[in-house]
Amino acid sequence: MRRVTSALITGASSGIGLALAVALAGPGVRLHLSGRDADRLDRVAETCRSRGASVEPRVVDVRDRDAMHDWVLSAGSLDLVIANAAIAAGIAGGAAERPDQTRALFETNLHGALNAILPAMEAMRAQPPCPDGVRGRIAVIASVAAFLPLPGAASYCASKAALDTWMVASAPAARREGIRLTSVCPGFVRTPMTEGQGGRMPGLLEPEEAARRILRGIAGERVRIVFPWWMGLAARLGGLVPPRVLAAVVSRPRT
Ligand SMILES: NC(=O)c1ccc[n+]([C@@H]2O[C@H](COP(=O)([O-])OP(=O)(O)OC[C@H]3O[C@@H](n4cnc5c(N)ncnc54)[C@H](OP(=O)(O)O)[C@@H]3O)[C@@H](O)[C@H]2O)c1
Repeated sequence: MRRVTSALITGASSGIGLALAVALAGPGVRLHLSGRDADRLDRVAETCRSRGASVEPRVVDVRDRDAMHDWVLSAGSLDLVIANAAIAAGIAGGAAERPDQTRALFETNLHGALNAILPAMEAMRAQPPCPDGVRGRIAVIASVAAFLPLPGAASYCASKAALDTWMVASAPAARREGIRLTSVCPGFVRTPMTEGQGGRMPGLLEPEEAARRILRGIAGERVRIVFPWWMGLAARLGGLVPPRVLAAVVSRPRT
């Protein structure tokens, strides 16, 4: 893959998005980074500038469709767009989600991601292709949760499942237009999202390692990246378990 010289990342003020921004930052690289927390976003921008990148931070809520459209289309030529921003709402004790939680999760994780992806596809269609025929690359950070309807994380799993399925199913048609789509399905990564989460987190990765794997997979033109692979397999197998058995296993007290 040609070196990435211009990239746009949502949710770059924290966790995996921050690690991706820093990993991409270097001389001759232009980064467009977004988040909601202006102070944290500015600190990330400074770190990336100290590595030689030029950085345009933008405080924008991914749920704001018009603002996202304006932001993405005003970014100029883009080699890579990563729709990373999301929220999680682990509901303690298997309680039902509140309606406002359900709506917030879908609006952020699914519609918020589409608010970056669809304008990015529009922009990339208008870009001239590189000699390898590629106009641009777009990745979403989904999750292995896409493979498993976990009681207690209904909208998180469902929003990630919709996103992963949409990306993978859209990839062949996008490829014919010179746009490479990648769905990234990580297991546990040490970020503020997992910080307050109780329980075991098998295979927990540092965000820098997650960013390395994500960028390697995108460079390798993978349509779906799953890591650790055994976590993806376990989630897939868990998804085949009858729902009542899965609910009983998940709600069993851990010793
Ligand atoms: N950590 C894990 O174990 C794990 C595993 C699988 C998948 N993932 C996925 O990886 C991605 C990054 O998560 P993370 O673990 O790095 O979480 P994180 O540290 O909580 O970061 C989430 C980022 O999303 C941004 N964000 C959230 N809602 C937003 C909104 N409405 N508008 C704009 N930005 C918004 C946050 O910005 P502000 O803080 O500035 O609001 C923050 O920069 C997510 O898609 C997550 O689902 C994480």
